Amino acid sequence: MTDQRTFLAAKRTVDDRALNRRVLDRFTAALEARPAPVRIVEIGAGIGTMIARLAAWGRLPDEVTYRAVDTDAKSVRAARERVPDWLEDAGYAVDRLDDGRAETTLVARSDGRRLEVKLEVADGFAIADDADAVIASAVLDIVALDRALPAIEELLASDGLLYAPLTFDGKTAFAPRDPADDGIERGYHRHMDTVRSAGGSRVGSELLWRLPESGWSVLEDGGSDWIVRPRDEEYPGAERLFLESLLETIDGALAELAGDEPESEFGELESAERRRWLRRRRNELEREELVFVAHNIDVLARPD
Ligand SMILES: C[S@@+](CC[C@H](N)C(=O)[O-])C[C@H]1O[C@@H](n2cnc3c(N)ncnc32)[C@H](O)[C@@H]1O
Repeated sequence: MTDQRTFLAAKRTVDDRALNRRVLDRFTAALEARPAPVRIVEIGAGIGTMIARLAAWGRLPDEVTYRAVDTDAKSVRAARERVPDWLEDAGYAVDRLDDGRAETTLVARSDGRRLEVKLEVADGFAIADDADAVIASAVLDIVALDRALPAIEELLASDGLLYAPLTFDGKTAFAPRDPADDGIERGYHRHMDTVRSAGGSRVGSELLWRLPESGWSVLEDGGSDWIVRPRDEEYPGAERLFLESLLETIDGALAELAGDEPESEFGELESAERRRWLRRRRNELEREELVFVAHNIDVLARPD
């Protein structure tokens, strides 16, 4: 079983390709226009790949405080281990200011730039701040929007921005095609909608009406599909692990759904057909043949 930290690390290059550059350009231009230091809060920061990416891509203003929170203590511990190295790879010199038990602060400097990163274990919807921007990447599809949106609004300073990239939006596809694909996809999405305690399979597009409905302006939006396929005959980076982990997640979701709804079409999928499908997909993965596509949406928004 692939653990969540390994999955998040493997996801980095998939996200790198997927992120919608138009939405990212608008977000980073807006950050540049804010007075220094620009205060960023990231909710559900996982192992800190967004911090590393924004630093490596030169997408951060000259002076930034970056507060990264996640409820998962193991992910925050992994972030404390990995982010300093990633920032050094991005050309920063990094000082660690505390012992890293309750909260870790990193001060990273490069060519007159200063990036202060705090890594915390916390519920991002129960903290206080006065942020120029809140980032929630691949997060809003697994939480309750009724709680998340007002909490994010509360966290933002006047004219502050929400950047919510990689919000899942209702399409999971594999190639080559298999007769069981449609049922597997329906079951996987139904699990997100009915068995999981929060979130859903269509949150990406839901945000595009929910935000205006709740008194926000959507400033920019765009697709950010995950597309994973062998390139030069192998999967890039650790993307094979990303796919292995996704297959495990889908199989686990279908097993749970079958238990919940034994009389439905998903009860049927518990049987030999599901095992055959998984075996086929694992074999294709082994042979570097499997192609995977998932539809996500990136949103940049501001409370009115
Ligand atoms: C799919 S992961 C995405 C992690 C990271 N943003 C990335 O893309 O690599 C979702 C993350 O949100 C975190 N999370 C879920 N609810 C949260 C909450 N209320 N406050 C902070 N983190 C939360 C989870 O622990 C998990 O690390």
